[in-house]
Amino acid sequence: MKETLEALLKEALEKIQAAEDGRALQEVRVSYLGKKGPITEVLRGMGKLSAEERPVVGQLANEVRDEIKAKLDKKEQELEEIRISKQLAEQKLDVTMPGRPVPQGSRHPLQAVVEELEDIFIGLGFSVEEGPEVETDYYNFEALNLPKDHPARDMQDSFYFTEELLLRTQTSPVQARTMEAHQGVGPVKIICPGRVFRRDNDDATHSHQFMQVEGLYIDHNVRMSDLRGILDTFVKRFFGEDREIRLRPSFFPFTEPSVEVDVSCGICGGKGCRVCKQSGWIEVLGAGMVHPKVLEMSGFDPNEYSGFAFGMGVERLAMLKYAIDDIRHFYTNDTRFLSQFKRV
Ligand code: PHE
Repeated sequence: MKETLEALLKEALEKIQAAEDGRALQEVRVSYLGKKGPITEVLRGMGKLSAEERPVVGQLANEVRDEIKAKLDKKEQELEEIRISKQLAEQKLDVTMPGRPVPQGSRHPLQAVVEELEDIFIGLGFSVEEGPEVETDYYNFEALNLPKDHPARDMQDSFYFTEELLLRTQTSPVQARTMEAHQGVGPVKIICPGRVFRRDNDDATHSHQFMQVEGLYIDHNVRMSDLRGILDTFVKRFFGEDREIRLRPSFFPFTEPSVEVDVSCGICGGKGCRVCKQSGWIEVLGAGMVHPKVLEMSGFDPNEYSGFAFGMGVERLAMLKYAIDDIRHFYTNDTRFLSQFKRV
């Protein structure tokens, strides 16, 4: 019995020594210590032994079992350590590697241009006002000296909800609203950016919805030369110091006199090219001296106050500044277009 147990121990220890992974080790464990293993068998056969032999063999069998178990556990731990260090060596992680960039959005070019215009005009002493996009016939037309049936209403084909309610066709109603709020006391010096709507066939240069920035300056002795000076400064800040402006006579019911404002062509420098249709000038906005009737309707005394107003299309300014050839690029949300304005 004793020899058998000692031989078993030797054999088991050799197998443990030779085991190369957890599975081999588990096999050794099952075959030597399992219920059908040789040690269990020895313990079971103890009944046949004499009373003197029994405790001796029993103790030895327990010792053998404990030793095999201890060696198995130790080997198992060694194998696990080897496995972990191997895994660590294989899966090298470079924590200094730059992370994967998260795609970042950017301001829409129209928004960026509006904010640039706001910066320029705030720098010239204007403040920013807003008005409703759903407007009454009164503010959109009548208070701007466009009574019902006035033929100039045809210049702005409109979206009506009712006879008295429409989507504003221009930001000019904010002029009337702001003047009214000032109750006849100047100065009023505001710009108003916002969306406007006109029934139009959409093409490369027209859209039924676009953005305008309106300007209004009312005070004692505001003159046309003030208008020219402000617009000249604006154009130079927005397009570049080398650009000039030119005023051409025009008509708007709410300004008198009215002008169309051109900026010298940035492509040819005024010599004439395809972009400016050989004229050297590009039209950018409408403006004029606020009509006395408009002042009066909104509560300002035209004998005491005078002022100028202007209105410009934001898309048009953006298209000229960034050489964009189709107004529809602004509305189709194509990131290939939008992502080009990250740093504007
Ligand atoms: N509201 C005019 C338009 O939409 C532009 C304009 C504004 C002209 C202010 C003169 C003064 O065409």
